[in-house]
Amino acid sequence: MTNQAQLHEELLDALAANGSLRTDPWKKAAAAVPRHEFLRGGFFRHTTVDGFSAWESVLEGEDGWLEACYRDELLVTQIAGTIVPADIRGQITREPTSSSTLPSLVLRMLEDLQVESGMRVLEIGTGTGYSTAVLSARLGDQNVTSVEYDEGVAARARAALAQFGIHPTLVAGDGLLGHTAGGPYDRIIATCGVKAVPAAWIEQTRPGGAILATVGGWLGASELARLTVHNDGTASGPLLSGQVSFMLARPHTPPPLGLLPDLSEGKEREAIIGADVLTDWTSRFVVQFAVPDVQRLTLNRNGRTEHVLIDVTSGSWAALYQDDRGRWIARQDGPDPVWDAAEEQLGRWHAAGTPAVEEFTVTVTADGQNLHW
Ligand SMILES: C[S@@+](CC[C@H](N)C(=O)[O-])C[C@H]1O[C@@H](n2cnc3c(N)ncnc32)[C@H](O)[C@@H]1O
Repeated sequence: MTNQAQLHEELLDALAANGSLRTDPWKKAAAAVPRHEFLRGGFFRHTTVDGFSAWESVLEGEDGWLEACYRDELLVTQIAGTIVPADIRGQITREPTSSSTLPSLVLRMLEDLQVESGMRVLEIGTGTGYSTAVLSARLGDQNVTSVEYDEGVAARARAALAQFGIHPTLVAGDGLLGHTAGGPYDRIIATCGVKAVPAAWIEQTRPGGAILATVGGWLGASELARLTVHNDGTASGPLLSGQVSFMLARPHTPPPLGLLPDLSEGKEREAIIGADVLTDWTSRFVVQFAVPDVQRLTLNRNGRTEHVLIDVTSGSWAALYQDDRGRWIARQDGPDPVWDAAEEQLGRWHAAGTPAVEEFTVTVTADGQNLHW
């Protein structure tokens, strides 16, 4: 057995042992797809420069490249929307924009998709093409459509898949619009996060079909939802456990903050719930549903820390701080008082006894997306 084959086998054994890879058809599909074939362009390894988070290239054949391809590790493959590993030597401090997902997450999601042979699947976020290849190995490439936003990334995935003799329908475009020509689909799976499940995905899934997507937002908390599409054009379903997080779909990334409003304006009141609640992942997730367009920043003003939540579209904002007596004070302005909405939503959740995310249901209707418990 070659070193590569052995590393591949060890990875699959580990994924089976930790419960990500559960059923024989997916074990067979995962065994048929060597991940390194989709990482021949190299990846970026995380490092720090002067205390700042940074990335440095690891190219094919370099020390550690093959081993990393077969570790249960997310491997970043594009930075700042254009830069690939071959483009730089040294370090870069910008944000990742494409990656090869953690193999355990890819396979866990494929298992959670609950497919049967012959089903037609639309994947959003092709990335390296690795998950597209595993899907194709399981269902046949004629049943797989994958949409990638970035043309360069899509072209590289197409080449890697073709090299391997796999030819799914690969579309370069905005996956939030789905791909009508290939529908209706039995399943839609997204390997980028969304702020809200797009109506197009529901329209392009047959009634009874399912959408598996990570619903997240600008407060930095997300969860994996498995929605069933109903005859009336709505979709609903549970959140699955695990604090799953993906880079947000590019059109769903937050707009620039622009000029901050005058944070001295606005009405003050004592807060019922303090901003320290936002250190908790699930609380942030719950709040996001109430104020989906809000971004968060922390400022040092007037000698104290202020936690600012701001919706740049409506102009509504809240600034929270602790006064000398340790009480939380909320100052708010704009048409939709941000902390009023956050407290109301958190209050309902607290009143219900803070149920766990596995007890949450997401519904998507023409009126938008809602969270229930
Ligand atoms: C985590 S990567 C996908 C990893 C991939 N499944 C794999 O196994 O390599 C997320 C991808 O989603 C893409 N993406 C972001 N927004 C998108 C959108 N609106 N439509 C389609 N793809 C999008 C990104 O360019 C990125 O390549």
